Amino acid sequence: MTFTESPRTPHLKIAIVGGGYVGLVTAAGLASHGHKVTVMEVEEGRLKELEAGRLPIREPGLEALWSKAVEGGLRVAHPKEGGYRAAELMIVCVGTPTREDGTQDLAHIKGAAADIGEGLRDSHGYAVVAIKSTVLPGTTEGVVRPILERASGRRAGPDFGLAAVPEFLAQGSAVQDFLHPNRIVIGGLDKASAEVLLRAFAKLPGPRMVTDLGTAEMIKYASNAFLASRISLTNEIANLCKAQGLDTLQVLEAVGMDDRIGPKFLRPGVGFGGSCFAKDVQALTARATSIGVIPRMLRATIEVNEDQPLRLVGLLDQKLGGVKGRRIALLGLAFKPGTDDIRESRGLVIASLLRRAGAHVVAFDPEAVPSARAASPDLEYASDARKCLAGAEACVIATEWPEFSRLRNEFGAMKRPLVVDGRRGLDPVGLGIEYVGLCW
Ligand code: UDX
Repeated sequence: MTFTESPRTPHLKIAIVGGGYVGLVTAAGLASHGHKVTVMEVEEGRLKELEAGRLPIREPGLEALWSKAVEGGLRVAHPKEGGYRAAELMIVCVGTPTREDGTQDLAHIKGAAADIGEGLRDSHGYAVVAIKSTVLPGTTEGVVRPILERASGRRAGPDFGLAAVPEFLAQGSAVQDFLHPNRIVIGGLDKASAEVLLRAFAKLPGPRMVTDLGTAEMIKYASNAFLASRISLTNEIANLCKAQGLDTLQVLEAVGMDDRIGPKFLRPGVGFGGSCFAKDVQALTARATSIGVIPRMLRATIEVNEDQPLRLVGLLDQKLGGVKGRRIALLGLAFKPGTDDIRESRGLVIASLLRRAGAHVVAFDPEAVPSARAASPDLEYASDARKCLAGAEACVIATEWPEFSRLRNEFGAMKRPLVVDGRRGLDPVGLGIEYVGLCW
């Protein structure tokens, strides 16, 4: 193995491929540990924003970490500028969206691999290509490796290293999750590849697990499948409690006190949204089916999740004696509080179910109205919670923003103060409202 610097030199020249959510957090985090980081971004608009010092995402702590990194020499560049030649480690953080049929679209991964391969052709030292994007087992070896070898004319192993380093960041706590990981998983083609990643992450706390490429790729899917299925099981238990007139919250609290189970991720409600859980469970389901393994739990996880918004609309329909023609205030469009991300938003699913049933929906979210408007331009949006609630015959809470828990007199402006809460977003005591919890 030939390092461009001595292996004892702690700092590496790192290219982060993709200036999206994972890429920017990873770049700022690694730069804060002293590595020389360049973010490679192909999309001109985003590149210009980043060059001008503007971050396209909002994440607690990121702006401060980013400014410090820029002061310390972090750069942003287009891949065609030739930055890959100098890098000792390239970490690929591009998107892997899902196609209609549930399979993964690897176009960005393939494009990045081709660009990196060209860079490797001209470079002299040993460098490692690490895939951080979520990819199904076998992708780094079977898809990325041949593209790199073809484009570079060099061989993975002796000439350059290959690794899979899955990401476990959650939105809203991404910087903390990066700096204080539960574990660092490094899938290496060989020992030399893994060692470069161990150096890159040397200053992070927490246990390291070194695996082969496919195992590391699978760990990400297995983790997200566990978390998503836990939410669906929580929701099924909660539905069952409510149907029997039992205290759902006490049941879940007691269940969480068992230290084999633990208290996290036991929040019942309208189901999971976001960019990872549904996409990853669907991709794993498609993989299972394609290799002859019946994905019963994975399918049920998605089915329960898709049922929760239907249950909510059913409850509303029953309380109102039909939703047709009724004005319904929808509070919450972001897939969770603290973000303007509306991917797989339960709020938007509820809006579309209600509108299909003939309801007049008016929606509000403290952050996500612009992104929701771009995705659903026909939906009616209010500029604040009071206007959203005014004249409504019912209100639905689809995201547990702290702002909503502080609403008081605003409910007085409703035609009927009926609140169907899909997220435990309110403590109804003393509000003078007719409160209905989705599954508690
Ligand atoms: C998730 C994983 O947590 C992260 O490790 C992975 O890398 C990406 O996917 P994220 O999508 O940012 O992160 O959010 P998370 O906080 O996990 O919540 C996802 C969804 O599940 C949200 O819609 C949330 O409201 C819902 N959820 C979460 C529940 O309904 N109940 C819970 O108990 C927990």
